[in-house]
Amino acid sequence: MIQQTFLMVKPDGVQRSIVGEIVSRFEKKGFQLVGAKLMHVSQDLAETHYGEHREKPFFKELVDFITSGPVFAMVWEGENVIANARQMMGKTNPQEALPGTIRGDYGLIVDKNVIHGSDSPESAQREIALFFSESEVVSYNKQL
Ligand code: CMP
Repeated sequence: MIQQTFLMVKPDGVQRSIVGEIVSRFEKKGFQLVGAKLMHVSQDLAETHYGEHREKPFFKELVDFITSGPVFAMVWEGENVIANARQMMGKTNPQEALPGTIRGDYGLIVDKNVIHGSDSPESAQREIALFFSESEVVSYNKQL
């Protein structure tokens, strides 16, 4: 099934100049980039985006980190892209993520794990709408 998902290179990934490398992996896999922007996440947006973690002990740390510098927010489209992108990202904790995955190759610790990706169709829809207006997500046919 053709789906859309929300992916975000976190501040550590932007700082380390691996945005292009990450975009390239999803492009080469065959997914289509339909929305992207470099942006600062506001306190409000961070708390809404990570609302499900509000009661977790690391919530403040998580919000502080995601607002600490620019992120690269993206919408990707393609066959089964939600689950597939999560496979390509690897496990949340980079210590457990396999080599060959983004977190396995570029991450070391769980709070700075390089990339975020939606975990279900419901969260994809919610997160895309939180970060992007309708006109910022484009629709186009891939020619080649
Ligand atoms: P993400 O996929 O963005 O969604 C929630 C984030 O919480 C997760 O990635 C991790 O970066 C972060 N996280 C999970 N567990 C911990 C933890 N124990 N300490 C700090 N951050 C965590």
